[in-house]
Amino acid sequence: MSLQPELPETLSSTATEAVQILNANDRGTYSVPTQGLYPMQFNWDSAFAALGYRFLDAERAWTELFQLAAAQFPDGMIPHLVFRGQHEGYFPGPDVWDNGQLIPGSGITQPPVLASVARTLDEDCPTQRHNMMVDLLRRLVRWHAWFMQYRLDTVSKAVLIIHPWESGRDNLPDWDQVLQRVPVANLPAYRRSDLGHVDAAQRPTQAQYDRYLSLVYYGRERHWDQQWLHQHSAFRMVDPVMTAILLRANRDLLVLLQRYELYGCLGQVAADIHTLESGWRNLWNPDVRAYTAFDPHLEAHSGSVTSASFLHCYAGVLDRTEHAHSIDHLRRFARRVKFLLPSFDPQADGFDARKYWKGPVWHIINYLVAKGLHECGEERLALRIERDTLTLSEKTGLFEYYDPETGEGLGGKTFTWSAAVYLDRWCRLHQG
Ligand code: GLC
Repeated sequence: MSLQPELPETLSSTATEAVQILNANDRGTYSVPTQGLYPMQFNWDSAFAALGYRFLDAERAWTELFQLAAAQFPDGMIPHLVFRGQHEGYFPGPDVWDNGQLIPGSGITQPPVLASVARTLDEDCPTQRHNMMVDLLRRLVRWHAWFMQYRLDTVSKAVLIIHPWESGRDNLPDWDQVLQRVPVANLPAYRRSDLGHVDAAQRPTQAQYDRYLSLVYYGRERHWDQQWLHQHSAFRMVDPVMTAILLRANRDLLVLLQRYELYGCLGQVAADIHTLESGWRNLWNPDVRAYTAFDPHLEAHSGSVTSASFLHCYAGVLDRTEHAHSIDHLRRFARRVKFLLPSFDPQADGFDARKYWKGPVWHIINYLVAKGLHECGEERLALRIERDTLTLSEKTGLFEYYDPETGEGLGGKTFTWSAAVYLDRWCRLHQG
């Protein structure tokens, strides 16, 4: 039996709901983000889900991570979604992605939080399956190396994405301009499955969706040749979320490799950390005094502050002056909206409190930013973000994302990662 972090005996009604959601979205060896809207395994959703499952059944939480890693492609990539079992007419499905792999999934990846969650679990409830753990670590080494080979921007040394879906922040205003440059392919008639579940006003527009899908068609025309996509994809943007998460994931991986006495790749991982640290620093935009996205084509920073601008502590890169400016922006956000952390600058053009990644609060980003802020001594702001995560959940339920002004829950209901992050925070609070 694994050690297991304990659930307090008496649960709040939202904690009870979180447990129910985790159980309802459990497909035995993996979880789905929510039924209907997203009926298959998503990469970073799954990693966050394991944070929640560890309170219910530690080995079940580990299975979630092992299953995700098992979807690894021969080149090392772990895809952003994996079609297992029923996927209830999800569009675009495996036939559209046509990834040519034994495992039906997409042809792109998602932010690599897996190693960091594995470290958290290893500290709370180490798995009894030692061989599986060693296998997981080897897969993580290969996945992280894949990023360095196929997603590193040679100019900034930070991580680029070749599809807005890869960032996990699908319709961030930062991507809009570049997405405009993507020519719309000769697409067959298609029906979006998302609009059957969520109000169109909260989702990406049709024009954006045509381009998302065009990028999928361009990828499959090239048989998902990652080398080619890295250099020539019609959409390429350097993403602070990807960069901070990969940097942190490498730091956590380094600790795990030492703990499990896998010394062979330590040098490589350490060198990658060094490269990514300079990559993160290069995302500093002196004009707006914040870490921002970067357009490798124009060699220019995007001008907007987003929730990712506050991931420097999580990434473990602390420059006193840049930190002070970043905290000023965060305080400014806190004065403008009722609930932290809006995904996009509430004072910028393009902010929309209800539209997906153009303004709403996402629990997973709150989790990452708060974790980093705790680690660099910004207790008050970290606690404020965590308190808002709890309040939003208790006020309206465990939704996909939330309006930062009214607190209304939006998007998909009964959402796995919101349940997992809520439970994580709530349990830590109630265990002192
Ligand atoms: C949306 C989000 C993405 C997430 C997926 C499943 O596409 O933008 O980050 O992984 O939904 O929850």
